[in-house]
Amino acid sequence: MESNKRPDDMQRITTHEQAAAFIAAQIDAIQAQVGDRKVLLALSGGVDSSVVAAILIKAIGKQLTCVHVNHGLMRKGESEQVLAVFRDRLDANLIYVDAVDRFLDKLAGVSEPEQKRKIIGAEFIRVFEEEARKLDDIAFLAQGTIYPDILESGPVKAHHNVGGLPEDLQFELVEPVKFLFKDEVRVVGDALGLPAGMVYRQPFPGPGLGVRCLGAITRDRLEALRESDAILREEFDQAGLAGQIWQFFTVVPDFRATGVRDGLRVYDWPVIIRAVNTVDAMQATVPEIDWPLLTQITARILAEVPGVCRVLYDLSPKPPATIEWE
Ligand code: XMP
Repeated sequence: MESNKRPDDMQRITTHEQAAAFIAAQIDAIQAQVGDRKVLLALSGGVDSSVVAAILIKAIGKQLTCVHVNHGLMRKGESEQVLAVFRDRLDANLIYVDAVDRFLDKLAGVSEPEQKRKIIGAEFIRVFEEEARKLDDIAFLAQGTIYPDILESGPVKAHHNVGGLPEDLQFELVEPVKFLFKDEVRVVGDALGLPAGMVYRQPFPGPGLGVRCLGAITRDRLEALRESDAILREEFDQAGLAGQIWQFFTVVPDFRATGVRDGLRVYDWPVIIRAVNTVDAMQATVPEIDWPLLTQITARILAEVPGVCRVLYDLSPKPPATIEWE
């Protein structure tokens, strides 16, 4: 059986030269493993699967088929970026699955957080399985497994409760970055020429915006979440905070608050801004954000996002609060 231990003599990848050597070695290894057979990859647009896709495209080109499932819980612009980079720029074999209605219908009325996670995970596997069955002679499944996934340290991996493909769809695995730590994957992504926004992307939970649109997901609140999150990211980017704060996002709760607009009383949604710094996601602190920046973000969200009348900044460290709200 193949070892799952990072070789003791494996150098850490910190430079483009080291990354280039790593990429060249992986290309050789993949070509030797795959030959002229076909590989399938679920491409979320996260840094790990994106780096794996880019390496495989270099190694085997059109023998790779990428499947991107848009479950409707992506951040604004993410699916578009996957298409622009992989289909348009790298000329990948890419199947785009618009599963938005399917996921949102399944999630309608479901408010229990773990139940929501299970539905999203199970539905994802089902959609991917359907796509896999449409393809002929796939021999391998490529995965963006990284070394911390193997070590199973920290709470991030523990949340990956998506299960797996059924018995008759078990493929041999291709896992070119499985001995890399996250920072090394980023250096490799940079060396591959992937866009910085993809390479230095902050962690994003598998269930995506689904666990930030609290309670039973509704389309109006999901849109408010996506738009407010995009504004927050844009403003943090412009203020140079994007690379400095570990994770930041907005949350839309499932309760309303009173407000007043054009002299009339309204009953609208609040938006909560969450920003944290952490080393391993086990404990987290809340960074002090420049007040003018917070008020500017607040003003933009209130002016640009329909149905929102309040913006709050979450000051709670972990513990006792978790990073996500559910
Ligand atoms: P919490 O909320 O537990 O989050 O403090 C710790 C880290 O884990 C991420 N997270 C998830 N990641 N699937 C994932 O892939 C999930 O269901 C999930 N829930 C939380 C969270 O974004 C944070 O980085």
